[in-house]
Amino acid sequence: MAERPDINPRPVTRCVCHDVSFREIAASNARSLEEIATRCGAGTGCQSCVPYLQKMLATGETAFAVIQDDRE
Ligand code: FES
Repeated sequence: MAERPDINPRPVTRCVCHDVSFREIAASNARSLEEIATRCGAGTGCQSCVPYLQKMLATGETAFAVIQDDRE
């Protein structure tokens, strides 16, 4: 998957399905996708936020350029 800031200049900052921001999730100190899912449900709906949650867990960042799946 590749970052594509040219697709949408607005950063991705939240799980839309569960209306929770990555900043709120990061502040909860969850350490895994499973912990995040248990605490707020993020990543358990359409799952389009999962790559961003994984990046948040790895970097601590809470706003991301759009990631495009190159397999399309
Ligand atoms: S945007 Fe997070 S599960 Fe749909």
